[in-house]
Amino acid sequence: MSETTKKPVLFSGIQPTGSITLGNYIGAMRNFVLLEDDYDCLFCIVDLHALTVRQDPAALRRKTLELAALYIAAGLDPERSIIYCQSHVPQHAELAWVLNCFSYMGELGRMTQFKDKSARHKDNINAGLFTYPVLMAADILLYQAAVVPVGADQKQHLEITRDIAQRLNAIYPGLFRVPEPHIPRETAKIQSLSEPEKKMSKSDPEDSLISLLDKPEDVRRKFRRAVTDSDGEIRFDPENKPGVSNLLSILSVLSGEGMEALTQRLAGQGYGKLKDETAEAVNAALSPIQQRFAQLMADKTYLAHTLADNARRAQGMAQKTLRKVYKKLGLYQP
Ligand code: TYM
Repeated sequence: MSETTKKPVLFSGIQPTGSITLGNYIGAMRNFVLLEDDYDCLFCIVDLHALTVRQDPAALRRKTLELAALYIAAGLDPERSIIYCQSHVPQHAELAWVLNCFSYMGELGRMTQFKDKSARHKDNINAGLFTYPVLMAADILLYQAAVVPVGADQKQHLEITRDIAQRLNAIYPGLFRVPEPHIPRETAKIQSLSEPEKKMSKSDPEDSLISLLDKPEDVRRKFRRAVTDSDGEIRFDPENKPGVSNLLSILSVLSGEGMEALTQRLAGQGYGKLKDETAEAVNAALSPIQQRFAQLMADKTYLAHTLADNARRAQGMAQKTLRKVYKKLGLYQP
């Protein structure tokens, strides 16, 4: 990405925790690749966000490198786009502090992710978990991002980011670009294979999710066991048939066959056929990613250099915004 081009900025991030799932791929990464040409892009490994839940240090380091490799393996170009670690660009945490002073306890307390995570980690309801969305707002506003591709679960965090930006803009006109979420309906929410009324989540049991690094036979086995329903009819109806509809969504997105054509073609067939076709479509999508991933992981020096170079490029952009913010807010800048 060249700092002189006029393309609008796209920002998104993924946490380097758990297994990076098919939900992360379809809801986020795949869209990053589809949008990469139209924007100046930053794809962040949000390692500071990961600290809101206790992490094993060695695992966090490994997953950070793996996520860098996955971004590239999925098709993103680290020469054009900026693929980097959040903790390598200190301006994220600095802007987050400023935004904390413009964020309200009430609005943060209403975040469903905070409510969910504090229910799941009752022994560790830390302040970072509470201000998580403020750091996320800082990630985005730091680069004056125009668009933020995410899955549906991040919609509320995008709304609070916009609220915070607008609140500051009302006091300090022109401070931030107000970002737009990019949440295509077809890819917004991939559901769990074992509990299809819930989203597929990195932290869930292995059998309920497809990891981008799953072997083909594991993918087939997991889809064969995927929970469906007992009416035996292949029809897209997420409310009444969440399991079958989830399989249809995955198959339609990855094969490129429209939902209508797909449901017509499969009408009257058994669920076994739908499951097998979905597993094969997933394996076809994952196979080139896994090959490239293995090559990249064999060259850690390349990954380390790429992350370091890209962090420097991000810092240049980030510092521009941070300086503007400090100046406008009245922090003395010699
Ligand atoms: P994270 O790491 O939980 O998820 C990364 C991305 O994957 C999407 N996603 C899904 N999409 C469809 N179906 C699913 N089952 C599914 N599961 C996850 C998420 O919506 C997300 O787009 N807070 C963010 C990371 C973040 C961020 C940011 C994102 C930090 N700063 C700034 C955008 C901009 C998160 O925890 O995502």
